[in-house]
This record gives sequence, C-alpha cells and structure tokens, in this order.
Amino acid sequence: MATSCFPSPSIEGGLTDLRRRAFLAGGAGAVASISALSGCAHSSPPNSPPPSDQPLPPGDLDGAVAKLRAQYVAQFDADYVDNVVLPSFLNSIYDGERPVLPMIDVALTKENALPYDMWGLLSLSWKPAPQDGVTVFLQGLEKRGPDNRRKRIYMSAVTPDLYAGMYQAKVVGFFDQLFSPANAAKPLMRIYLDTFWDLYWDLHLGVKGKDVPDQVRQIGENFNTVLAYRDPTQKIVYDNYMAVRKNLDFLKTWIDNRLKDIQSGKTPEPEKTFGWYWIKNGEDSEFFNHKDVVFECFHNFVAFSQWGNTLYNIMTRLGKDTGDAQTKDWFTKTMAGNFDGPDGSAFTPLERFVMELFRTISPNAGSISAMTETRPPAFERFGFIVSPHTSTSHDPVQWSNPDDFDPSRYQHAPTSQDIDEARIRQMGLAKCPFDLTSFDVKDGRKAAMHNSGFGTVFAVADDRPLPVCDYAGFAPFGFGYRRCPGEQLTIMAFEDLIRKVAKERLEFVKVAGTDAQKVPLGPSTPEMVPIGPTTVISDDIGFTRPS
Ligand code: HEM
Repeated sequence: MATSCFPSPSIEGGLTDLRRRAFLAGGAGAVASISALSGCAHSSPPNSPPPSDQPLPPGDLDGAVAKLRAQYVAQFDADYVDNVVLPSFLNSIYDGERPVLPMIDVALTKENALPYDMWGLLSLSWKPAPQDGVTVFLQGLEKRGPDNRRKRIYMSAVTPDLYAGMYQAKVVGFFDQLFSPANAAKPLMRIYLDTFWDLYWDLHLGVKGKDVPDQVRQIGENFNTVLAYRDPTQKIVYDNYMAVRKNLDFLKTWIDNRLKDIQSGKTPEPEKTFGWYWIKNGEDSEFFNHKDVVFECFHNFVAFSQWGNTLYNIMTRLGKDTGDAQTKDWFTKTMAGNFDGPDGSAFTPLERFVMELFRTISPNAGSISAMTETRPPAFERFGFIVSPHTSTSHDPVQWSNPDDFDPSRYQHAPTSQDIDEARIRQMGLAKCPFDLTSFDVKDGRKAAMHNSGFGTVFAVADDRPLPVCDYAGFAPFGFGYRRCPGEQLTIMAFEDLIRKVAKERLEFVKVAGTDAQKVPLGPSTPEMVPIGPTTVISDDIGFTRPS
C-alpha cells in the first residue's frame, strides 16, 4: 500500500527498524543535520558495522552516525549514503486522524511533502530544485497561484469529458493487448509492467512502440522499483535509484523534445495527449511553465504506478479461487443490468461498482503532509503526518455498513457539485472553507474548472457538472484541494477493464509461477514483481478465456 502518491515509510518494516536503531536509541536529541551527518562521518574511521538488529549505544551520537555511515559506505556510493540512507533516518512520519469532512486544512501542507531521502529521484542536486520545474503534487496551496490554479491547469488534461474522444481508445487498446489470447494462463503482472510504458507515453506525449527509447522505458522501471521496495538500505533500491539518476537528464531532454513535437504539429492528434492541455492551459505562465510540464510528465510515474497495484487487487477480488463473494455478486448483478445507464444518481451503476472497488482496495493508504514545528529546530529534520484513507473509508461514522462491499452507498452520497454555500451553512458553518471560484480552460473547449466548498476541484464541460463523490467516507483519492485530479480518468479506465471482463467472460485464476524454463532444477516459483508503491507481489494471477 502507499501513502499519498509516494509510498508510506510508516509501513516499511526495515526502514522503521533502522530509524529506531539509529536515533531512538540515542534519545530525542540524537539527530543531526544532513550536512553534519556527512561531516562527522567523514572524520571517523570506518568501524565494523553495528549488528543489524541491535540498537546503537546511547550517548555517542557522532560515533553512532559514523558507524552507520561506515556500514553503508562499504556497500554504496558515499553520495547515496549521505543524501539518501542517512536522511531517511531523519524522517518522522506520524499517523493522523480520520477526517470527518473530506478536506485537509492548509496547515498540513504539500510543500515538499516528500520523505527527504527521495528527492534524489527527482533532482540531481538531491534536493528540491524548483528552477528546474515543479509538480503540483509537492506544492503548498499558497504557491499554486490564485485559487489553486496549478491544480486546475493540471486537471484540465484529465477531465471526464475528454475520456471518450481522446484517451479511451488508448486505454482499451492496451487492455486488448494485455488480455489477448497469447497472454492467457500466464502470470500477468510481469507482462503488464513490460507493456505499460507504451500506454503511459502515449497518454502523455502521443509516443509509443519503437519511438520510446529503451533508456526511457528503463528509467520508468527503475523508478517504480525504488517506490516498490522503498527501503534505501536494500541493494535493489540502491541500484535502481542510481540508475534513475543516471538517465534523468536524458529523460528530461527526450520529454522536452516530444513536447516540441506536440507544439509544432509533428505529433499526430496532439489533442489526445496530456501534454497538449498542460501547454495550452499553462500558457507557459508562472503557474505551469514548460519546465513544469516536463516535470509532471515524469513525476506521473508515481501516480500511474498505482494502476498496477489496482489491477492486481481487482483480479484477486474477482478471482475464481481467490475472490471475495460480495464483490463477485455485485459484479454479476451490475453487469447483468443497464450498467452504463443513468438511473437518477450522479454515478452510473458501473461507476459505483468501480468506486467501491477503490474504496475497498484503497491502493493508496494515506495523504502525506509536511508539518512545521512550533519552534525552529536546532538541527534540520523532517516531520510528516498521514491522513489515512483506508480507515476513513471504513469509518462507522460515515457509513452504517462500512465493511460491506456495497456500491449502492454512492447513490445518494454528496458530490462536489452539491457542496455549495447553502449546503455548508446547513452543516452549521458560517462560510465555505474554500471560496467557490472557477477557471475557464484555454484549449478551445467550453469547460471550466470549479471547486466545492471543501476545495475539491471538478470540471463543468458544456454547462454539465462532472463532479466526484465529495464525502470523507470515500477516501481512496484523498481529500479537498489536493484530491487526486487523475481520479476520474482512473475510474473510467477501470470501468473499461470491467466491461471487458464481463463481455469476454474473462476469469482470473491462480497460475503457476513465471516461465518454468527459468527454474529448470526446481519447482516453478512465482516471480516477485514490483507492482506499486511499497508493493511487491508474487506474480501468480492470470486469466482464462472461455474456450
Ligand atoms: C489508482 C490510481 C490513483 C490513486 C489511488 C491516486 C491517489 C491519490 C491521492 C490519495 C492523492 C492525494 C495526495 C495528498 O493529498 O497527499 C493524489 C494526488 C494526486 N494525484 Fe493521484 N492517484 C491515482 C492516479 C493518478 C493518476 C492516473 C494521475 C494523473 C493522471 C494522478 C495525479 C495526481 C496528482 C497530480 C496529485 C496531486 C494533487 C494535488 O496535490 O492537488 N493520480 N492521488
């Protein structure tokens, strides 16, 4: 499971243990700035590493840090140890409360809300470098321009009115290939991971197949492997982290050139790419300039990596031997009816079914915010709080049957269109926590990006509101002004998956592990594959088609 789009260090066993070893043992004061860490470590001779399961001795911070450094420098590049391994011990991540309303106040900021050891994946200086482009995902509301402008521009590329005409054929083509007869009865997630980049780059830049260089495919895989294994003290994380850094400049230049192709008309059907809308609606302004478009194009590795985890979990829940009875009953019931027909609710029956899959799977465990200390700390350190998704979605104050799989719960749930001034007053509040404003897109559509009283951004296209369920009990895509802009695209893509499963009567089954040829002397063992942030699974599910 993951925390916000980036993985949750709170669930990384190894890292937590190491952090405790390094600093709790030394007392609350046993933390030093990163530069101090490197400095003191340089001055100490490399001693033999401390036993990996023992706390470091209290009282000797310099010595403890030096020992830690010596241990890891023996295995990894010194820059990596100083900028990734040691800072990872300086993250404090706390579990937060379940929100009762679907919003997060601005005190819990997104500004650089990234465990510090991960910056080296995004920036060659190992730290935030806004002059080279920023992502809305790591920006505080106060820096996003008027009324969350950057978010509105970002979301203009993925609003539901675009799906059928611009993106659906790409998504459906990908699923057709993934579930082709040639892939039947094989472990599916490895195939998914190997082919996914064609969809990713086609959606972002209109490029696929041989036009995506190997280095670009490789860096995506490296990035996702770091997110999946996450513990920076593991060799697999080190190797993949350094591989990302090696290819980062190549990737950015490649993206930059492909964006130029979109602008010059070289790319066929440029309006079928996210890049097109970001360029048009960003207008190269301070709220979303060209470098920001480049940055978003690869930062989305994080966002999209969650599709793999979602797919795997859906297959598991609908699986012949592995499935969940309530989920399977609802699948049968929903797909036997008029699943795409409007029935008076804001969401169609199929949409409600997929929303319930997301609520119950909760591929992203919580929204991570950076915190400001009440007084400046004596040394640099990083504190974060996690607003949980899974427990909020299952909170009995939100639903009378929180643990049932029941898509009908969304039939009357409030939407972002409903949460207006009148509704907020009805709740007993004097005004909307977030002013109601709108931003007209500049890409030729008659569409505007509105927001609810809780700050949730949603589109109104051709005068038709396209809202989301704005209720804390539906938490898989986060809350309020920073809620996931890719939610509706994601839900619509997985609706297409469900349509396909029903229409072609695909069944999900346990399969023997990956290519038996690879283990000629032993039983076939399922390959372990990194399918999403902090999620490595054994690749043991496939599909069958009716004969
Ligand atoms: C299974 C799929 C996905 C899940 C579960 C998911 C979940 C989330 C969550 C929980 C947040 C809120 C994080 C926070 O407040 O700390 C978020 C934010 C975000 N997501 Fe997603 N996401 C998914 C897919 C996507 C996709 C496909 C895109 C892009 C097309 C995307 C783009 C973003 C962006 C840009 C933000 C930052 C929004 C802001 O801070 O205003 N996500 N996502």
